[in-house]
Amino acid sequence: MDKVVVSLGGSVIVPDDKDDVFLKRLAKMVSELCDNYQIYLVCGGGKVARYYIRLGRSLDLSEDQLDDMGIMATRLNAKLVSYTLGEISAIKIPEDIIEAQRLECKGKVVVMGGTVPGHTTDAVSSMLAKEVGAVRIINGTSVDAAYTADPKKDPKAERLSSITHQHLYELVNMGLHGAGPSNVFDKLGAQIARDNHIDIYIVNGRDMEEMRSAIEGKPIKGTVVSD
Ligand code: UTP
Repeated sequence: MDKVVVSLGGSVIVPDDKDDVFLKRLAKMVSELCDNYQIYLVCGGGKVARYYIRLGRSLDLSEDQLDDMGIMATRLNAKLVSYTLGEISAIKIPEDIIEAQRLECKGKVVVMGGTVPGHTTDAVSSMLAKEVGAVRIINGTSVDAAYTADPKKDPKAERLSSITHQHLYELVNMGLHGAGPSNVFDKLGAQIARDNHIDIYIVNGRDMEEMRSAIEGKPIKGTVVSD
């Protein structure tokens, strides 16, 4: 059975915009696919993580302490997703990728957040995909695709339907801000996927048809990153 890792941004899970409707639709879509794919959902921390990290920084907490609070926020979102999935969710939220792999089970979805300080859940997704031999990584994000520049700021920004890993790596290294390349995947995650030849499908995480097509490896409106 093909394994698929979904990196679900916190900005997709809890933007405070009909989040309950989204979570129910996500649970339904995943329940329809989980007998045919081993699905891993890696949840980001979103606004909650950013709030604690910003506050902690103004209190002069260490980077490790800030990351630790970020991880707690990702795990809170993972709990929310796991509870919403109900019985198709694995029995616990794994704290590292080895534990995640051990929880693999036909018909069950492994839901997790971050692991250790120093990276983001996109990087966790790539590490997990490498560890379990996933056929692809889905990045369910708040933008609908990768662009050559930030489409909100640059009218000449072009939407990219298919790019190489090296191209993605260069885009994320440009360090642009906003709904552009910097949002589409993180650097370390892009590097691990590139070095291990794992395709990344970048899609709008709130578009359930896109998410479904990406999990199934079908054509998407977003961006496919491959060798
Ligand atoms: P996210 O994965 O949500 O970070 O983790 P992000 O990419 O900055 O945020 P999104 O994509 O908008 O949701 C939140 C924070 O938690 C810490 C980091 O500080 C990260 O920025 N974290 C997360 C870790 O230190 N380790 C992890 O494994 C995951």
